[in-house]
Amino acid sequence: MSDFVTAYAPASIGNVGVGFDMLGLALSGAGDRVQARRTDGDSVTVAEVRGLDGELHPHLSTKADENTASIAAQALWDVHGDAGGVELKVLKGLPLQSGMGSSAASAVAAAVAVNALLPSPLAVEELLPFALEGEKYASGGIHADNVAPSLFGGLVLCPEVLLPEIIRLPTPAGVSAVLLYPDLQVNTAQARKALPKSVSMKLWLDQQGLLAGFIHACASDDIELIGRTLRDVIIEPHRKDAVSCFDDVVAAAMRVGALGCTLSGSGPSIFALCKDSDAANIASVMEQECRAGGTACQSWVSSMSAPGAHIEA
Ligand code: HSE
Repeated sequence: MSDFVTAYAPASIGNVGVGFDMLGLALSGAGDRVQARRTDGDSVTVAEVRGLDGELHPHLSTKADENTASIAAQALWDVHGDAGGVELKVLKGLPLQSGMGSSAASAVAAAVAVNALLPSPLAVEELLPFALEGEKYASGGIHADNVAPSLFGGLVLCPEVLLPEIIRLPTPAGVSAVLLYPDLQVNTAQARKALPKSVSMKLWLDQQGLLAGFIHACASDDIELIGRTLRDVIIEPHRKDAVSCFDDVVAAAMRVGALGCTLSGSGPSIFALCKDSDAANIASVMEQECRAGGTACQSWVSSMSAPGAHIEA
C-alpha cells in the first residue's frame, strides 16, 4: 500500500457540441495533478494549491469543503478509507472557468490519487460517483461530461439517466480536436442558470438527430457525416455572446477546413474537429483570429483518443 502518490487528469471538452451534459472528450497536453499523502489526521485536507508557475494559486481555496479535489477525495475516503487521513497538494495545470473541465480534472485526479492509497483500490469505473461529488460543487448540477472523459479518456457518453454507467464510444481514425482557450472566464454555474428551462419539440428532435448521427459518424469513420452533425442548435445560441471572439473564430476555423466548431463546455473555450492533417493550421488560424479581436489565447491539438487519468510514477 502506497503512502504517497501523484495522479494526473486531463482537460476535457464538455458537451462536444452535440450532446449537452452527456457527451465528453478527453484532451491531451493539458491537465491537473494531485499529490496525495497519508496522514495521522482523520479527514482529507488540502495543504496547498499551486498554479503552473509554481506559485500558490491566487484564487483556489484550500478549505476542504471548497475545493473540488478534496470534496471528491473526502467522498471516496468516507466510504472506502481506513484509519488516518489524507493530505492533498493540487497542481493546477488548467485555467479556471475556461471550458476545459478544470474543476472536473482536479476532482478526478484527487479521486485517482486517493484510490491508490486505499487498502483495496477500486476499479476505475467505481470512481466516477466520487469525482462527480466534486464537480457538483463547482457547477451546481449533475453532469459527467467532463468528469467521465477525464477519468476514462477518449469520447464518452454519460447521460444522467444512465449514471453511474457510462459508455465509452469508438473514435474516428484521422480526426483531431483543436481547442482554443481565449483568455476570458465563464462561470459554469451561472451559465447553466441562464439557459431556458424548456425547448421546442422541433429543436429537441433536431439535436437528438445530430447526436445520433455524430455518434454513428465517429463509429464508422465517416468524416463527412461528422461535418454535417457537429452542431449545437439548442445551447450555443444562448452562450456564444459571452465569448466576444466566438463568431469570428468559428468562421475562420470553418474557412480553413474544420469539420465543425463550437463551444467547449460552457465556454469560453472553442473547439473544432478536423482531419489530422489540417489541425496545426486550424489551431494557428483560430489563434490569429482571436488575437486580432484583442483577446489573448492559447491552443492545443489532441487526438480523439487521449488517455484518461492515471498515477504517475
Ligand atoms: N455540460 C456542462 C455545461 C459542461 O455545458 O454546462 C460545463 O463545462
